[in-house]
Amino acid sequence: MFESLPEPKLDGIIALMQAFADDPRLGKIDLGVGVYRDEVGRTPVMQAVKAAEQHIIDTQQSKSYLSLAGDGAFLTQMEALLLGGAVPSDRVAAVATPGGTAAVRQMCELIRLARAQATIWVSAQTWPNHGPLIAAAGLKSRPYRYLDAVTGTLDRAGMMADLEQADAQDVVLLHGCCHNPTGVDPSPEDWAEIAALLDRRGALPFVDMAYQGFGAGLDADAGGLRHLAARLPEVLVVASCSKNFGLYRERVGLAMAVVPAPRRATLAGTLAGLNRKIFAFPPDHGGRVVSTILGDTQLRHMWQAELEQMRGRVAENRSALAAALREALGSDQFGFIADQQGMFSLLPLTPDQIAALREAHGIYILGDGRMNMAGLNDQSVPVLAQAMAQVLEG
Ligand code: LMR
Repeated sequence: MFESLPEPKLDGIIALMQAFADDPRLGKIDLGVGVYRDEVGRTPVMQAVKAAEQHIIDTQQSKSYLSLAGDGAFLTQMEALLLGGAVPSDRVAAVATPGGTAAVRQMCELIRLARAQATIWVSAQTWPNHGPLIAAAGLKSRPYRYLDAVTGTLDRAGMMADLEQADAQDVVLLHGCCHNPTGVDPSPEDWAEIAALLDRRGALPFVDMAYQGFGAGLDADAGGLRHLAARLPEVLVVASCSKNFGLYRERVGLAMAVVPAPRRATLAGTLAGLNRKIFAFPPDHGGRVVSTILGDTQLRHMWQAELEQMRGRVAENRSALAAALREALGSDQFGFIADQQGMFSLLPLTPDQIAALREAHGIYILGDGRMNMAGLNDQSVPVLAQAMAQVLEG
């Protein structure tokens, strides 16, 4: 049966996690997978999560099945967190999924059911799993320009020119905030222009929100999404609670369609049916933690303060690294690091330079140059700056 099965190709992020784990050097530095780390390198369970879990343990009476869409309270709270009331709830259909990854896959399945010929436009630099997830659902993808690699800012003109070619048969995948891997996000004016372009072209926006709260703040990070939802008749949204609630391994995510009210029930039923065909009922524990936190004033404050602290640490790491590189290189060529936001920046290094960071210095970044800013601390910032100066000198 399996003689002709092709050898599996390991995802670059997962392969790097493994290589880092296998590296015996004590001073190794993990700037690979997108996981928040504190100053001493831990990814702690948030205090608000601990408190919510305790509450669930004390009060939960049953673990019997819920609906295929998952817990209604989770979906309602997440709708408010994401959309902030930008559209009435009778336009919103959502289901819980095992993490944001499954939400992307379910959305691709939904698109395929609606329009198997659709092309999904994807930013030229994107999360390495987007392409495989789209292809696994049997859909085509096409890149649009995104990063201006010289300035480390949005290639607004290139992006708009490419998306002018999208039409009503197409879907445009956008990162809601903290673009992965570039750290470059559209400004509010850019979002308005994107919305106007999509409106004109009739293409369907598909927003992936995996880092809400890590960029400019919870509401500001959702500003682009809310603008699209308020302006356009249809928007697809996927979200992850891995990072902003630190619930990585619990797999908490959702797939949401904003549609004209008369279509809502069809979308809700179709999304629930897609869940049934792949995993039936979504996991509940993590989603219940999220709804417990968001539904309780005190826990919500606690969570927001913890998230704000994480956001601040990532921003400080950005400033510290930009300053250390300015000093080590005597140039401001990496000044863009301080201006970008979220966990990631894309370093313009060659594959050889990236390999030298790993082999000679024990510093792990992804093969495309993506590094996780949350993996840095006071000790590793100067180490990285010096190592980069060395590999850049060749
Ligand atoms: C990342 O981009 O590193 C994270 O989203 C983890 C993942 O699932 O790839």
